[in-house]
Amino acid sequence: MKQIDTILLVQDIHKSRQFYEGVLGLKIVHDWTNMVVFEGRLALHQADLLQPQELIAPHIGTKASSSVIVYLETGTLEADYARLVAQGIQPIHGIVHLPWQRIFRIRDVDGHIVEIGEATPSPAPKALIIVTSHHHGNTAKVAGALAEIFEVEVMAPQQVPMEELRDYTVIGLGSGIYGEQHHQGLLDFAGNLPPGNGKKTFLFSTSSGVGSYDKSHSPLRKILLSKGYAIAGEFSCPGHNTNSFLRWFGGINQGRPNAEDLLRTKEFAERMLAGLVGGQE
Ligand SMILES: Cc1cc2nc3c(=O)[nH]c(=O)nc-3n(C[C@H](O)[C@H](O)[C@H](O)COP(=O)(O)O)c2cc1C
Repeated sequence: MKQIDTILLVQDIHKSRQFYEGVLGLKIVHDWTNMVVFEGRLALHQADLLQPQELIAPHIGTKASSSVIVYLETGTLEADYARLVAQGIQPIHGIVHLPWQRIFRIRDVDGHIVEIGEATPSPAPKALIIVTSHHHGNTAKVAGALAEIFEVEVMAPQQVPMEELRDYTVIGLGSGIYGEQHHQGLLDFAGNLPPGNGKKTFLFSTSSGVGSYDKSHSPLRKILLSKGYAIAGEFSCPGHNTNSFLRWFGGINQGRPNAEDLLRTKEFAERMLAGLVGGQE
């Protein structure tokens, strides 16, 4: 079995809904008129319309139980307390400081106890950014821009504390593209990683190619997926290349990654960060 909804039986669904949605600001995810379900799976049902009435009516009432507490959280405890009191809601008690948290308690329109606690901000995701950058330090520039947004240091594969990998929320791996794949040193590093158990990673690279990185990222992507890592995002941009004969005429992609490339890099990092904070892929 799994727990789905906790349903409060209420006298007047419209009044109760107005209280939880209008006054307390909960978001409704299902609205079946006589029953509404909020985002956190608290639900309200009009008591005298619970079906089948002939079987259930004798067992139910709307007298609120003092042994049930609806627990909500807010990031603005004081402002919410002041607002609710200003709206005429009588608190059971004002803001108290428990050893673990600040809370206050009120009653809903049926008399159920509602406890409102102060939300503790979730810690920022901790990122590990690993780069191999041999040709012109092109990918190191991209790694630097990523690190600025994630507010972490960049590491070479040999600096990575393998025994501490579990402490990181996300691991970014990048290098220049050599022979249509990431640098062999980075691929070897990835091959030696412990099982991923779904840990998030992202891939990045610089290369002389423009456009899709689908093929060039494929070998690293395959290694990570085969080890059970999740790929949360991929990024690539052009890098200065003076390989072989190209050096005779200054190479291609001179000056890349440039300021615009690094801006795109940072935008990618911000999107990643937003996804991570929101717990999405
Ligand atoms: C030996 C060598 C092989 C390369 N092979 C490729 C390739 O297959 N495809 C590509 O798009 N770029 C290729 N490049 C260009 C590099 O990917 C590009 O210059 C990259 O930005 C280098 O990154 P780095 O300075 O971080 O090492 C190659 C460069 C070198 C030196």
